[in-house]
Amino acid sequence: MSDIKETPYFETSWQAPSNIALVKYWGKKEGIQIPANPSVSLTLSEAHTKARLSAYEGEGDIDLFFEGQKMPSFLPKIKKFFGFVEQHLPWLKDFHFKLETSNSFPHSAGIASSASSMAAMALCLVDLEEKVIGKKREDFFERASFFARLGSGSACRSLFAHAASWGGALAPKAYSHHSFIDESATAIKIHERFENMHDSIFVVSKREKKVSSRAGHGLMDNNPYKEARFRHALENWNYCLEWLESGQWNLLGSLVEEEALTLHAMMMASRPGYLLMEPETITMIHRLREFRARTETEIYFTLDAGPNLHLLYPHDQREKSWEFIQECVAEFKGDAFVIDDQVGLGPVKGCTL
Ligand code: DP6
Repeated sequence: MSDIKETPYFETSWQAPSNIALVKYWGKKEGIQIPANPSVSLTLSEAHTKARLSAYEGEGDIDLFFEGQKMPSFLPKIKKFFGFVEQHLPWLKDFHFKLETSNSFPHSAGIASSASSMAAMALCLVDLEEKVIGKKREDFFERASFFARLGSGSACRSLFAHAASWGGALAPKAYSHHSFIDESATAIKIHERFENMHDSIFVVSKREKKVSSRAGHGLMDNNPYKEARFRHALENWNYCLEWLESGQWNLLGSLVEEEALTLHAMMMASRPGYLLMEPETITMIHRLREFRARTETEIYFTLDAGPNLHLLYPHDQREKSWEFIQECVAEFKGDAFVIDDQVGLGPVKGCTL
């Protein structure tokens, strides 16, 4: 922006967390990020994005700063996102924006930042919407979830405390004991044992992904196993909601591992197929399963679209789990590190960058 000294019409800031899917969103239907199957995630806390949006009157552009630096390479994605939101908030084009963001985790840590960043920006935009229309929106977080989805599907699950479910609008009655929609996510009830669940993110590789999530979703269209996967995900989603509520971690943990490996199986079976796991990923899976069988510690893993493991365990399993994780870090001799995260309370309004 040429002159950012003028007073903004409106300014707001939000911190939004990342989330980790237990049942995976993988594949899209017609539309903008309409999921082919429902998904469920835990809301994290340590891995988050902060965003400050300043809106100036007068048509203009977006000035983007990431961690204090102008970041032109991020602009196309942000402009595309604002373009989608503009279809619902046509007055967006009457503003010039300054957008400042920062992440709590290193950008190069191999941890996807699109969920937390799209969620933080979506919250700022709903805040601006309230100012423009001059009244509160009762559906503030659902609205933010709807906008966040337009930026990145998984982002719509980052707006709620503890856990969220997204999709399943057309699920047969027998499956859905809640009424969910495809356009935004909803908070779900979980057992208190899961409210302070740990997610120790075991980073084995910081390398850039070979295939983006967006391209990976697209490859599901011609995947020979897609129908079986979508049916399978629907069943897992239903069990996941049930076990999250009743607190059955061992059952749920096994399902979560199955979901992670199925996600990667889908990638391998795509045309062309590809592999995002690294040798260290497989080593860790074997180590974890051996440790779990030997010590009966209730620790399970999941993976997102990358080689890093999310090690999940309830707080009452912390001591043994943490000791195991430290041993593994030592064994990987400096090639691995841990982002020690846990389930959190969702977005926070007002933050300093
Ligand atoms: C494997 O939300 O990143 O993490 O909607 O194209 O932005 P787009 O994809 P994205 O996909 C996330 C895929 C996943 C599973 C999940 O989070 O459910």
